[in-house]
Amino acid sequence: MPVAVVLGMQWGDEGKGKIIDLLSQEADIVARYQGGHNAGHTICFDDKEFVLHLIPSGIFHEGKLCVIGNGVVIDPSALAEEMEDLNQAGIDLKNRLVLSDRANIILPYHSVSDRSREKEGKFQKIGTTGRGIGPSYSDKIARIGIRACDFLDENRLREQFHVNYQEKKKILKHLYDLELPDFDSMFRDLLSFRKMILEYIGDTQSLLQKAIAENKKILCEGAQGTMLDVDHGTYPFVTSSSSTAGGACTGLGIPPTKIDRVVGVIKAYTTRVGEGPFPTELHDGDGQMLRDEGHEFGATTGRPRRCGWFDAVVARHAIGINGIDALVLTKIDVLDKFEIIKVCTGYKHKGNVYEKMPADLDCLQNCEPVYTEYEGWMANTVGVTVYDELPEKARQYIESLGKLLGTQFLMISTGPQRNYTIHNGTLF
Ligand code: GDP
Ligand code: IMO
Ligand code: MG
Repeated sequence: MPVAVVLGMQWGDEGKGKIIDLLSQEADIVARYQGGHNAGHTICFDDKEFVLHLIPSGIFHEGKLCVIGNGVVIDPSALAEEMEDLNQAGIDLKNRLVLSDRANIILPYHSVSDRSREKEGKFQKIGTTGRGIGPSYSDKIARIGIRACDFLDENRLREQFHVNYQEKKKILKHLYDLELPDFDSMFRDLLSFRKMILEYIGDTQSLLQKAIAENKKILCEGAQGTMLDVDHGTYPFVTSSSSTAGGACTGLGIPPTKIDRVVGVIKAYTTRVGEGPFPTELHDGDGQMLRDEGHEFGATTGRPRRCGWFDAVVARHAIGINGIDALVLTKIDVLDKFEIIKVCTGYKHKGNVYEKMPADLDCLQNCEPVYTEYEGWMANTVGVTVYDELPEKARQYIESLGKLLGTQFLMISTGPQRNYTIHNGTLF
């Protein structure tokens, strides 16, 4: 089974970074397929913590090739900073990192436009990360984006950038009364990043297809989560890419027939950052306790994450859309001090009970979650590595989730550290 997708099942921050870092040990290649530096994937080992935004979570394992696919939008300055941080940490990226020549580039006017739109007050606020993700994907779909391959020829890059710059300058002035810095200084900055990343650009589609033909093991890394997917999430409160499993095909050029397995990472409760409906959100002491115990603050923006109970409607939606055949349950330890733990099994709205994810935001915003209650285990699970050593009530909770979702757990995570994990099988 040489190609596996590992992705988030909720609104992001499920602990994908930790899990993909661990599973990378089994892979030859780790490939990110969508999103940009809106992602923040945390990896903890040897008492150190790293947060990756663009570079795949396999980078800490020597010999693993890390690919940034065509479906990712790359901010050259963010990438340069991340590469520099990794160099400082002693990670040699030469021959370890390849950027797709087809990946679209985030340019400074994209983040200006993203932040201005959010600030303006005239438009629907999404609570974006302000990284220029939406505007850059908009340019991609409008077919005016600049791609990594355009960096190869400096003169052509100047021409393309100039055309876009002129257009964005007018739009930003007109919409937000904003002046962009002058063209020459922006282009000079771009050229300095060009120098740094040029040697990493390659034909990742051919590379991955060759790897598949050679039976190499490829782990496709999702960013964000199913509920933030532009098609299948809580639109318009989503990100601008396909974070679901299909995104791995379009975002890497891997044919659907070559994907053997899809693993979903899900927290033992739910969080989301930014605006948008969140049926099981808690505004009480329990919500605060989840935030405190789970250190629920954004890895990218530092914003406090909204917290709530586990939502089986979300989980079932994610299993269906992605074809998930195994789950990874994370942050079970965060529930150690709860006397009662709730799980939402449906949404009650205007006399109906919904067990499938409704598209209509009115239902999601105004529904009443139907809860099943579990007794908490009120005991320490941090660092447990053997399933049978979990408290009985914790095992009952996990087994109930498994039954409710009809899917097995491949791993259970009991803390941020690599080794704080219960393993129940292998990825490949
Ligand atoms: P990602 O975006 O899905 O990679 O997740 P983030 O890194 O943004 O957020 C997950 C946070 O939870 C990080 O701070 C991780 O170090 C931490 N974490 C991951 N797994 C566990 C776990 O099982 N227990 C606890 N307590 N923390 C965890
Ligand atoms: P990882 O990979 C959690 C959210 C933002 C906002 C919405 C749109 O770490 O799980 P964007 O900047 O993408 O246009 O913002 O999506 N968002 C995330 N929330 N984890 C992430 O990534 C996210 N990436 C984007 O908060 O609500
Ligand atoms: Mg994150």
